[in-house]
Amino acid sequence: MGSVVKIQPSRVKQALLVLATPHREAQAKAYIESHGGQLIGIKGDAELDLSLLDAEKHQALIFADDVSLQAVGKKAPGPVVVSFEGNTMVHRLKHGGGKGEQVAKAVGLSKVAADRVISVIDATAGLGRDSLILAALGCHVEMFERNPVVRELLLDGLDRASMSVEVMAIAGRMQLHTEDFISGSGAYEDNSVDVVYLDPMFPDRNKSALVKKEMRVFKQLIGGDEDADQLFDPAFRIAKHRVVVKRPKAAPFLAGKTPSVQIKGKSGRFDIYTKKAF
Ligand SMILES: C[S@@+](CC[C@H](N)C(=O)[O-])C[C@H]1O[C@@H](n2cnc3c(N)ncnc32)[C@H](O)[C@@H]1O
Repeated sequence: MGSVVKIQPSRVKQALLVLATPHREAQAKAYIESHGGQLIGIKGDAELDLSLLDAEKHQALIFADDVSLQAVGKKAPGPVVVSFEGNTMVHRLKHGGGKGEQVAKAVGLSKVAADRVISVIDATAGLGRDSLILAALGCHVEMFERNPVVRELLLDGLDRASMSVEVMAIAGRMQLHTEDFISGSGAYEDNSVDVVYLDPMFPDRNKSALVKKEMRVFKQLIGGDEDADQLFDPAFRIAKHRVVVKRPKAAPFLAGKTPSVQIKGKSGRFDIYTKKAF
């Protein structure tokens, strides 16, 4: 690679620019072969100044020591990276706290014996934060993520976690399916997973709801998950005990279905659809 090629003007909004350090060049090329994007050079190359690019038109996927999604432009915030190690929440969860976490309550962990392993499908894994909490609390979590950039971030996070003494056991309970849950759910029998967890991006999730500036680039990438209502039926079919849907405070019910129970928090809520008590 070496030299920096001129960035082609693109008619696609938010065209993805891919950068790689030499040791990750092959991985970056494999990504582009499967999913598209434009390889523009080696990270750190003096000719390449991401602050000069138009934030409305581009985002950068960077393959370096870690894999990150980076907004471009003058006041771009820091990169979005999936890092399971060094996470203070994980430390707390590993050392006894945690069943009081709202997501843990919503999944029903307080209702099951401490030695019982719950199977959870996180059908909309995103950056894996909810999956991480559930896995740290002992659940076996199968994650689905359909966006190829997000998948790349997640796979990198899981890869690094699998080499970290601190979190390798937790990462061992997290498995990523690199496909859309709506089609992937076809492989599961009815009532075969204890809990299915859904957290699709809500179209109106506004900037203030995305607390960290870094997360705006994630929202730009994903958009609104406009087909989110279609998640409900397959989730309900394969769940044995319950489906849990994370929603922003004022959002309507997913697929217009009224939940059995709700847990309300400051900015969001969990809608719980019970099938069978634990
Ligand atoms: C709001 S984010 C989830 C955040 C996640 N709960 C976390 O803790 O990081 C929603 C994610 O679901 C993914 N998604 C939406 N619909 C999906 C589907 N049908 N199958 C797989 N992934 C989906 C989107 O690509 C996006 O990354």
